[in-house]
Amino acid sequence: MEKQSQNNTPETHALLDVLVLAAGLGTRMRSQKAKVLHQLGGRPLIAHVCRTATALDPRRIHVVVGHQAEVVAKAVQQELGEDGATFIEQTEQRGTGDAVMAAREMLGEANSTLLILSGDVPLVRAETLAALVHQHRTHRGRGAACTMLSVRLEDPSGYGRIIRDAEGRFEKIVEQRDATPEEKLVNEINAGIYCFDTRLLFPALARVQPSNAQGEYYLTDVPGLLRTDGADVAVYLHTDAREVSGINTRVELAEFERLLRERKMRRLMLDSGVTFIDPRHTYVSPDVQIGRDCVVYPDVHIEGQTIIGDGCEIRSGTRITDSRIGNGVTIKDHCVIIDSEIADNCTVGPFAHLRMNSKLEQSSAVGNFVEMKKSRLGSHSKAMHLTYLGDATIGEETNIGAGTITCNYDGKNKHETHIEDHVKIGSDTMLVAPVRVGHGAVTAAGSVVTKDVPPDSLVAGVPAVVKKQLKQEAISTTEDHGRKQ
Ligand code: UD1
Ligand code: CA
Repeated sequence: MEKQSQNNTPETHALLDVLVLAAGLGTRMRSQKAKVLHQLGGRPLIAHVCRTATALDPRRIHVVVGHQAEVVAKAVQQELGEDGATFIEQTEQRGTGDAVMAAREMLGEANSTLLILSGDVPLVRAETLAALVHQHRTHRGRGAACTMLSVRLEDPSGYGRIIRDAEGRFEKIVEQRDATPEEKLVNEINAGIYCFDTRLLFPALARVQPSNAQGEYYLTDVPGLLRTDGADVAVYLHTDAREVSGINTRVELAEFERLLRERKMRRLMLDSGVTFIDPRHTYVSPDVQIGRDCVVYPDVHIEGQTIIGDGCEIRSGTRITDSRIGNGVTIKDHCVIIDSEIADNCTVGPFAHLRMNSKLEQSSAVGNFVEMKKSRLGSHSKAMHLTYLGDATIGEETNIGAGTITCNYDGKNKHETHIEDHVKIGSDTMLVAPVRVGHGAVTAAGSVVTKDVPPDSLVAGVPAVVKKQLKQEAISTTEDHGRKQ
């Protein structure tokens, strides 16, 4: 198959299907929420596994769902798209073997390689899975019936142990709860990641009995059964233990979070040229991009699909989520920036809040205790103090005085405010939307603007009225600023 370019042996002609087990609750998380929905690096565990699976370019990804099936399915669709996976419901969670059995109707007849993954092993890399599939398909020149991924752990407790015979050949997997004291000493564990020849898997699975300490159907009984049948069962011993460890408790979840963060910070420092004053206390999600010569201070959170250009400075206590920041931007302490865009050379904060598609055009500035919602501030414009700009469009070279409020909500509907170029909004102006302030206009301090302000006029009072038309010369001076003849 052209998809599997790994090798040219005939075995590669079997198609690759992926089955992700994600029906369990994850009792050890002590949570109302299904384990695979817990977030790592800002995305649910199941999303990590599914993204990795797509990198193998399989024919199809199947996900076994049970606990909070709809929410889990939604999380998968969010990652892979509406049609990115097929969902198989396991109505009662009777063990990993039972979970795979739920897929029998869908997959049982397929002449395929079935790669089985757990929804709670989020850090496994596509390269590792590809190597496992490759070994499985080329084993002894004809492919194995089953190849499982194993790893040696200093502390193997909790995992299924790989039991080998005197010659070191695979014999069976024994779960922790069923292991003898001697078996418990084995430190090679089953990572819960397997390749099966699909046609051999299901008949063997049908023979599995729940005769174990947990009364569950164990998928881990299948390799032993196949081995007893005389089929080829192989073990792929992997070296990076952390990569293939599962998450069973919140302690492990926190450790993985740290690990993911360390990897990300390292890459940003080594490859992208970002300075972190204290990388151990800076939180950058895996998908974030940050440009060269940015300096990021401690206690900053940068999340989601955020992209930051070159030469920016981001001070402590700031959170930036799903936003786009240009070059040479300074973000001072304690800002919250969500779903917004900041063009080159802007200054933000301290204590500013930008949200819902707000946009700062280049070289504009937003200062202390300013909130912007769905608003645009034109280039070289400023709103420096104690201001709310909601549903507002502000032109270029305009100054928004301290304490200005766009009164955008009448109790029922939101209305827009338009402020054109070269406007001076006086301190403590209330702009009662919908309203427009014309080019070159000035509002006096304390104005309550309820009607549109004509261009080049000065308004004042409550409600604001036009006090005078501003001198034409004065206006042209502003306009010709910087290009004197
Ligand atoms: C499993 C393996 C163990 C291995 C470990 C590696 C079995 C019996 N044991 O143990 O050998 O060392 O993984 O991480 O397989 N699930 C279902 N339906 C169920 C039960 C589980 O979909 O009825 C799903 C869970 O949501 C989870 C995955 O299967 O994503 C693994 O289940 P879990 O209970 O975590 O298995 P472990 O006890 O960790
Ligand atoms: Ca597990």
